[in-house]
Amino acid sequence: MSSFINSISKPTIIDLPKFLDPRGNLSFIEEENQIPFKIARTYWIYDVPGGEVRGAHAYKTLQEFIVALSGSFDVVLHDGNKEQRFHLNRSYYGLYVPKMYWRSMENFSTNSLALVMADKSYDENDYIRSFEDFRSFGNEK
Ligand code: TYD
Repeated sequence: MSSFINSISKPTIIDLPKFLDPRGNLSFIEEENQIPFKIARTYWIYDVPGGEVRGAHAYKTLQEFIVALSGSFDVVLHDGNKEQRFHLNRSYYGLYVPKMYWRSMENFSTNSLALVMADKSYDENDYIRSFEDFRSFGNEK
């Protein structure tokens, strides 16, 4: 594994390889190479009506990597003290989201497609779905 990728522990925009080609461009992601974990699950969010917000929750242990394969949206991250907003609008970079960040996805453009890679299978017990619980969970650490 690349030691640079392995050392990432904060929310980080990661540029992906980009092969520009007159026939159409190509980018890719290899687990533990472009992103700092092994991929256990991939899901995608699509057909989001204007103004809707997805994913207002935190994960106790899950890490994710989010790419705007099409269109654009914002990922808003809160660490319990401060908020950061990341605008994703190209398919050749993505956002690494470590565990224990409150995260929302909003401002979806028409026909946007959010691809999410995660390091674990779906587990409802890993979710923290109340911001108050998230803050108190963080304080207990
Ligand atoms: P959820 O992550 O709660 O989405 P949001 O926070 O945007 O509302 O997912 C919605 C539902 O989809 C969840 O209740 C169960 C199901 N789901 C799966 O079965 N597998 C998955 O990988 C994901 C992400 C969700």
